[in-house]
Amino acid sequence: MQGSLPVLMGRRVLLREPREDDVVPLFEYSSDPDVTRFLAFAPPASPDDTLYFIAKCHEHREQDREYVYVIAGVADDRAMGIIGLRHIDQPMRTAQIGTWLGRAFWSTGANVEAKQLLLDFSFGPLSLHRIEARIAVDNHRSRRAFERIGGRREGLLRESFFKDGVYHDQDLFVVLTHEWRSRRQRELTGRPRQASKDGHR
Ligand SMILES: CC(C)(COP(=O)(O)OP(=O)(O)OC[C@H]1O[C@@H](n2cnc3c(N)ncnc32)[C@H](O)[C@@H]1OP(=O)(O)O)[C@@H](O)C(=O)NCCC(=O)NCCS
Repeated sequence: MQGSLPVLMGRRVLLREPREDDVVPLFEYSSDPDVTRFLAFAPPASPDDTLYFIAKCHEHREQDREYVYVIAGVADDRAMGIIGLRHIDQPMRTAQIGTWLGRAFWSTGANVEAKQLLLDFSFGPLSLHRIEARIAVDNHRSRRAFERIGGRREGLLRESFFKDGVYHDQDLFVVLTHEWRSRRQRELTGRPRQASKDGHR
């Protein structure tokens, strides 16, 4: 995507492109080993690593490889964490979602709202059909968070995550576009969505 990603505006959080002035908060949050425990990267060694990460986000967006957003507060525009799509495969209409938040923002509702914004964008303007999440089996909080927004477990990816010299199994969670639309419809109206011709709800 050339230019920049559109800003996705929620009630309490918004998603926008990472900027250089996000370095200080993002460096601070990702220096917490509790945050990176189940992530593919180690805590950054210095703020320069975070600056490099931000530069890479822009490069990958231009190449349509990854769309990475900062999760920020609507009230203060201050970064809380990161959410993004990677392994974007437009012919197959699939991508993988990933999220991390500073420890202070866990259990605040920011995660749910950020996922709603990105999934609405993925299944709407991006026309994706299937969003996957790979979650380490011991990452109980993340599993619960993904189930909570309607993700369905499809199976076990054995020894698919290598961290600190150890292989971990991951659960494969998936959200499909028609399942998401039904869920969003129910949330908005409190009523089930009418079944479509092909039987999807
Ligand atoms: C993953 C992450 C973004 C989720 O955000 P969050 O604010 O913690 O998640 P939520 O509050 O939306 O949901 C967490 C759920 O797990 C539950 N939970 C918390 N600790 C739990 C535990 N030890 N075991 C099981 N469930 C747990 C919470 O009660 C909540 O469920 P509920 O909504 O039914 O009450 C955040 O925890 C994070 O940044 N973790 C570190 C990075 C990471 O691991 N990212 C995911 C990589 S796959």
